[in-house]
Amino acid sequence: MKTIVTTAYRPNGKTDRMAAQAAEDLSIPFVLRKKRSIEKIHAEECADVLVAAKERLEFYPLGKTEPFFFHPNSAAFRTKRPIEEDPLVAVSKLEAGDVFFDCTLGMASDAIVAAYRVGSEGKVIGCESHPVLAYVIEQGLGRYEEMPHLHEAMKRIEVASKNSVELLKSLPDDSVDVVYMDPMFTEEITEASNFTPLRGTADEGQLSGEWVKEAVRAARKSVVLKAHFRSADFEKYGFARRVRPNTKFHYGLIDCRTP
Ligand SMILES: C[S@@+](CC[C@H](N)C(=O)[O-])C[C@H]1O[C@@H](n2cnc3c(N)ncnc32)[C@H](O)[C@@H]1O
Repeated sequence: MKTIVTTAYRPNGKTDRMAAQAAEDLSIPFVLRKKRSIEKIHAEECADVLVAAKERLEFYPLGKTEPFFFHPNSAAFRTKRPIEEDPLVAVSKLEAGDVFFDCTLGMASDAIVAAYRVGSEGKVIGCESHPVLAYVIEQGLGRYEEMPHLHEAMKRIEVASKNSVELLKSLPDDSVDVVYMDPMFTEEITEASNFTPLRGTADEGQLSGEWVKEAVRAARKSVVLKAHFRSADFEKYGFARRVRPNTKFHYGLIDCRTP
């Protein structure tokens, strides 16, 4: 799908500069806003619309009126609790100084929790195959000014605008500690609204044998899958399921240190 970038409804110098920068960075056309609604721009340009709004980038896929934008979401409250008890940290056995490879960056909530856990000695690589989502998140991670306790962690995340299977293939054996996968659920979870604007836009590709094989090869410690509790992928690809009572998703673990 074609994407164009425009400014806020009432542009100023800052939104003009942000829009021009995004057009250059993503090699997409800049289109004047001319006080048009998003629906009107969608209709006239037949394209997804990236908006350089006052404080952030907002992405409106064609036909959607709710924007996608960066926000720490669940990372905001997860990092206020004892971090070693966070379900992802506990399942993956992620420690300070580790390298965490997030195959499915999305809104980066899990990557922020991981970056908070690994600390300044560690590293987080977040892979996102949709180039506009990757850009919105990368810019947001660098610019977000609220929640000072997360600033360092957010800036620690290296965003890779790539397909993670291809990037994993380029990694040497045992080169990261934890590989994490959280593909789009095939069953919609009604109460999870963060991704609502991205249904039909984000990469909805599902796990494959090749993806898991490359993850196991690259990971020293563990490969972790998050999936809907009804997903058969845990058993299909050899993940030990960690049941989380009363939640719609489970984690699965492949322990790479087990001989
Ligand atoms: C369910 S979301 C991940 C949510 C994320 N864990 C978070 O904390 O916000 C899945 C994201 O992964 C991306 N994605 C799916 N398959 C991918 C792949 N093979 N490589 C890179 N990104 C992928 C999708 O575009 C989508 O943005």
